[in-house]
Amino acid sequence: MNYRSETQELIMKKDTMDTPVETNETKKPKKDQEYKIITRNLDVFYGEFQALKNINMKILPYSVTALIGPSGCGKSTYLRVFNRMNDYIDDFRIEGDVIVDRKNIYTEKIEIEQLRKDVGMVFQKPNPFPKTIFENVAYGLRIQGVKDKHFINEKVESSLKQVTLWDEVKDNLKKNALALSGGQQQRLCIARTLAVEPEVILMDEPTSALDPISTGKIEELLFDLKNEYTIVIVTHNMQQAARVSDHTAFFYMGDLIEEGKTTQIFTKPSNKRTENYITGRFG
Ligand SMILES: Nc1ncnc2c1ncn2[C@@H]1O[C@H](COP(=O)(O)OP(=O)(O)O)[C@@H](O)[C@H]1O
Ligand SMILES: [Mg+2]
Repeated sequence: MNYRSETQELIMKKDTMDTPVETNETKKPKKDQEYKIITRNLDVFYGEFQALKNINMKILPYSVTALIGPSGCGKSTYLRVFNRMNDYIDDFRIEGDVIVDRKNIYTEKIEIEQLRKDVGMVFQKPNPFPKTIFENVAYGLRIQGVKDKHFINEKVESSLKQVTLWDEVKDNLKKNALALSGGQQQRLCIARTLAVEPEVILMDEPTSALDPISTGKIEELLFDLKNEYTIVIVTHNMQQAARVSDHTAFFYMGDLIEEGKTTQIFTKPSNKRTENYITGRFG
């Protein structure tokens, strides 16, 4: 398979698709405060080991940003920085700034539960709770103390519609979520995240455990979701990055090697290591 030309073909298709439309991507923020997430001089350590080195990056709202790079280069670590999920790790330590919606989430006073609601997360392996389909989606609202039954019903329905799962499950909302297929479970997990109205959705290789059809459904979904949310996705699949993302950041051994518009990264990478990686020479 000619990996490179296939990926580049995708990019070219995307280019022609994108050009005539005024997308959110083209509405470039001019000031820092218009970026959704900013990291400045970010260093991350696990004990003595430095997992991320001086990461400076700005993430645009209403767009999909893909984090790519070989295993162990720090993609998941970086993603988890944005909603302080690494805080659970004993010897985790951070230096530098992480700004989400103009707030430094490590130094300013923030409610961690609010942050995790605003910055939701979808994992590689679908992780529905062993509860009904309905209760999975309603979960976050119940945790927040929402009692209004009508509101909850509406929210469950609209969230399931957003992930195009509604038609498949509407007659079985009381069924255990674990009985769904892997692809359905992953869409359910996305619906669960959407139900609490996040601003940012972090996805860590959300399709790598799924079959190609389920993967396609989730990729399609991203096109709709980015109109309302800021999406950051880790992916091992170069073609997926090329298809779904507006911006791509390439990490290698804890360094951010380069980042930019996906079209640029995939057609004219400025760094040799990026080129080697996207053309499948290592990884
Ligand atoms: N909890 C942890 N404790 C110690 N080291 C970790 C921990 N999590 C990740 N690492 C290390 O940090 C580096 C980056 O890991 P990770 O962010 O998971 O990379 P990626 O997602 O790109 O595969 C790896 O070398 C990994 O072994
Ligand atoms: Mg990872």
